[in-house]
Amino acid sequence: MAATGLLLGLILVLGCFSEIGVALISFSSLQTTLVVTATHPQGLLRAGEDKITVRWGLNQSLPAGTDSAYKTIKVQLCYAPISQVDRAWRKTEDHLSKDKTCQFKIVKRPYTTGNQTLEWTIERDVPTATYFVRAYALDANDHEVAYGQNTDAKKTTNLFEIQAISGRHVSLDIASVCFSVFSIVSLMGFFFVEKRKGRKAQQ
Ligand SMILES: *[C@@H]1O[C@H](CO)[C@@H](O)[C@H](O)[C@H]1NC(C)=O
Ligand SMILES: *[C@@H]1O[C@H](CO)[C@@H](O)[C@H](O)[C@H]1NC(C)=O
Repeated sequence: MAATGLLLGLILVLGCFSEIGVALISFSSLQTTLVVTATHPQGLLRAGEDKITVRWGLNQSLPAGTDSAYKTIKVQLCYAPISQVDRAWRKTEDHLSKDKTCQFKIVKRPYTTGNQTLEWTIERDVPTATYFVRAYALDANDHEVAYGQNTDAKKTTNLFEIQAISGRHVSLDIASVCFSVFSIVSLMGFFFVEKRKGRKAQQ
């Protein structure tokens, strides 16, 4: 009994420590040092088909050594405010461990000085919403230390819309229903013409 209590206590303490460990990183404490751009076709982008070209690099006007702790770059697709309204599961939180703004990984690769470019095909499981792209610089402990995004701080510029695959299935279904109706109608028309021909032949 006492052992169980001790164990529970230990788990609780460890849990608290790990909680402190992750909760310490707040988005507002990060520096904006990365310059990120995203280029893509105009208009509605289609998940599973369209490509976004993401480009990122250190802002060249910052002093040398700004990026000395950067080990990894993590680029993500993030929900724009308009697509977060009334959706707690996409909510922005300052504590990065609780933040749900950026849920789709575009790439994670070692940091290198100089600009990097990646052409990314929008993954098939991306839901219909408005998005932007954000890159985080991570240190040797995989902790976020800086970021950059293709939009302004208020997340209002350069946003883009993606249409999910499921949305397109609906229109595909509508198309197949229309096609079936068309087939039935033409089949009926065919029978009608054949019948008339038959009657004429009898006469
Ligand atoms: C780069 O950094 C400078 C100085 O902090 C800032 O004025 C400028 O807006 C930044 N450029 C971009 C593209 O973020
Ligand atoms: C990276 O790109 C920016 C503009 O997108 C440019 O000003 C800068 O010179 C480039 N840096 C390098 C190292 O190529």
